[in-house]
Amino acid sequence: MSAPDLDALRARFPALRRVHAGRPVAYFDGPGGTQVPDAVIDAISRYLAEHNANTHWAYPTSVETDAILQASRAAAADFLGGAPDEVAFGNNMTTLTFHVARALGRGFAAGDELVVTDLDHHANVDPWLDLARERGLVVRHVGFDPATAQLDWSAFEAALSKHTRLVALGAASNAFGTINDVARAAPLVHARGALLFVDAVHYAAHERVDVRRLGADLLVCSSYKFHGPHAGLLWARRELIEQLDVPKLRPAPAEAPERLETGTQNHEGIAGIGAAIDFLASIGGPGPRREALDRAFAWMHARARTLVARLHGGLAALPKVRVLGLPADGPRTPTIAFTVAGRSSLDVARHLAQRAVFVSNGDFYATTAIARMGFGDDGVVRAGCALYTTEEEVDRLIAGVAEL
Ligand SMILES: Cc1ncc(COP(=O)(O)O)c(C=O)c1O
Repeated sequence: MSAPDLDALRARFPALRRVHAGRPVAYFDGPGGTQVPDAVIDAISRYLAEHNANTHWAYPTSVETDAILQASRAAAADFLGGAPDEVAFGNNMTTLTFHVARALGRGFAAGDELVVTDLDHHANVDPWLDLARERGLVVRHVGFDPATAQLDWSAFEAALSKHTRLVALGAASNAFGTINDVARAAPLVHARGALLFVDAVHYAAHERVDVRRLGADLLVCSSYKFHGPHAGLLWARRELIEQLDVPKLRPAPAEAPERLETGTQNHEGIAGIGAAIDFLASIGGPGPRREALDRAFAWMHARARTLVARLHGGLAALPKVRVLGLPADGPRTPTIAFTVAGRSSLDVARHLAQRAVFVSNGDFYATTAIARMGFGDDGVVRAGCALYTTEEEVDRLIAGVAEL
């Protein structure tokens, strides 16, 4: 594949034309939500303008709606490495996780154990804590090393037992960018007869997901983190979807995967998910979509390594700046958390915004992880590179922090 032209790629994102305080906006808020290309916006508005209907009826717009939803399911299967009937859509990762946790919990008994980590976003912790409260389950918490923001693997192994029924593990930390070795966890979890539930919300924007290589039993992500609309996706092994005792209306579909989808879906959003995946595949050039996605992610990954090295190096060289977690060349995404001595994270984010550099600050619902790092009250500043990030933008961010 020939390297995509970055200017041409950036031209596909209308949001990048926004000017703030006299400068083009540099969006480093991708870990909170990425910008959307024209193809996604078109797919959403075209659905509403031309195909808007409910499903499974005999007239053309309903038939077209069925076809659009099915096409997006096929795209999502290519994106995640599964089969179309293993993919369910939903509002967002959190709602899907609460829903599926409730269904899984119907098969758990008092004294059964769940494992969660301190590194995870609370969307992959609290649904399991809630379930444990309801059903008398025991929850084991796995810590991490604050120096590297990496999971404590000996604690992970120690948390597993013959009573473990499910392990909820983030594939990547939305706060520090750490990539967790899910494929290492899978055989340990499965050896205890437990299920591995993977939160790939942050991971899926940066790394090529392959549910089978990861060894997940269930995996969730959200398309607004990978240039799609605000809607979530869940993949689960087909037998699991068929067995799950999901809360649902009696007349609702009993087949996989629709049995996981409650009520009328966000059709335009699902159309947008398919378009986002096709947009990413288009970066990889022509050919079968899975292979195009492999190439696209390889290119995005290589760029991300360069950008994160520049960002990490530039920030770490500033005397009052502390960059948290792994070094630039560690197993990480291009998301960096940092603090500036004597400045609140809000101060830093506000200062950068005046230079049209948009970064997030706080704890990003990775509340335990940020508190364990010692930044519970104020949180940290988070800058995430995305596929449209340029070296000039990285330099502008570093210069903005240097001014402080
Ligand atoms: C790692 C991670 N997990 C879960 C979530 C929650 O996802 P959603 O907003 O789709 O519920 C987020 C959102 O920021 C996240 O970054």
